[in-house]
Amino acid sequence: MYSTKNEGPRRGRSFDSMNLGLTLEEKQLNNEMNKSAFPKIEENKDNKSASTERGRAAVVFSLKNEVGGLVKALKLFQQENHINLVHIESRKSKRRNSEFEIFVDCDSNREQLHEILQLLRKHVNVLEMDAPDNRLPEESEMESMPWFPKKISDLDKCANRVLMYGSDLDADHPGFKDNVYRKRRKYFADLAMSYKHGDPIPRIEFTDEEVKTWGVVFRELNKLYPTHACREYLKNLPLLIKHCDVREDNIPQLEDISRFLKERTGFTIRPVAGYLSPRDFLAGLAFRVFHCTQYVRHSSDPLYTPEPDTCHELLGHVPLLAEPSFAQFSQEIGLASLGASDDSVQKLATCYFFTVEFGLCKQEGRLRAYGAGLLSSISELKHALSGNARILPFDPNVTCKQECIITTFQDVYFVSDSFEEAKVKMREFAKTIKRPFSVRYNPYTQSVDVLKDTASINNVVEELRHELDLIGDALSRLNMQLGV
Ligand SMILES: [Fe+2]
Repeated sequence: MYSTKNEGPRRGRSFDSMNLGLTLEEKQLNNEMNKSAFPKIEENKDNKSASTERGRAAVVFSLKNEVGGLVKALKLFQQENHINLVHIESRKSKRRNSEFEIFVDCDSNREQLHEILQLLRKHVNVLEMDAPDNRLPEESEMESMPWFPKKISDLDKCANRVLMYGSDLDADHPGFKDNVYRKRRKYFADLAMSYKHGDPIPRIEFTDEEVKTWGVVFRELNKLYPTHACREYLKNLPLLIKHCDVREDNIPQLEDISRFLKERTGFTIRPVAGYLSPRDFLAGLAFRVFHCTQYVRHSSDPLYTPEPDTCHELLGHVPLLAEPSFAQFSQEIGLASLGASDDSVQKLATCYFFTVEFGLCKQEGRLRAYGAGLLSSISELKHALSGNARILPFDPNVTCKQECIITTFQDVYFVSDSFEEAKVKMREFAKTIKRPFSVRYNPYTQSVDVLKDTASINNVVEELRHELDLIGDALSRLNMQLGV
């Protein structure tokens, strides 16, 4: 998934005002950009032509927690769409603390601007836009909902939109200089990219080195689980071990894991080549599909990875995806994201990050971890439960504003009494998301029903009537047996 875990702050890089998480190339660019004041978008209107298609346009966006995001975004303007950049600046965001916003003034037409908007959204959060003819590109399109998958096979259309691919590693990645590792990563990426819904997940013959790396992670984490993991995790891990041949000296196959989850909660696994955008990843959850990496972290440091790998997925996520209440919680976040605005998706993704990835719960008066980012990281798992970490009650309205830190410990963790409680809170939060319709998952057809007219709502009412009839019948039979 798009979040990461790590083994401590030694390589940490938080997204703050001192260090934007930028590459060297971006830092130089950023210095250049900071030399002049940041004008308001309105100031550029004098320079625009209202009658001709081409003119000056302005875009304001903020960076996501993605290394190299600024360079990627700017390349989209110049190299891929041949839009001439006239002026670039950065400023501290007034909307979200400690984030920076990038202002780009460019020379383009509405069509180009429309295209760039679609591409930009994969890498950055677009905040404001001002088009050449003083109109937003295709205003009706801007108002209409973003595309989302309606049936499970539609995931084929978005599961390959990865933000990073295969051997495309950052310079500070442990495997950056290892050509054998990079080739192996490309192998896994190619497998995932050619995967289609319904295919069996390719079985992997893991190398001795990969198994050894997995073994270290498995052994060390298992020492902590009895005292640090939540009871649902401790209940499901032995089942996973039993049914999927999970051992210190054997990395389980995703196909076996997927079959196991399908029987437990209806979740299935889909291999993915790298990071997906929050929108695409959350869309998978709506169909109870978990996008899962299949490669193993670099062997030079088994207890550190700058990105999700199969150790994180299998030991962090899978045991809880086998828990019905957790599966339901995950799916509801996914359903809430379908067709939501970028801002709403970002809020949902942040809530996901601080629950499914870094969530804590209270059990028998003690703190326990249920977040996969914690359950797959020895040092952060210890830290979160050490008594020294800052812990707040989970409240989606507060949590959604918290900064997600991707390569060091979180500043704060959020605790829930139970998944049930977290689900109820998320459900209430989802109601505040502006969307001109509701959605309902249809498990028979593995599709999403969009409830936006009386006919579609009537269908649901009919189904509910039938379910209530069943419950009434079951109750009356029970009463007869009990002689009530
Ligand atoms: Fe994850």
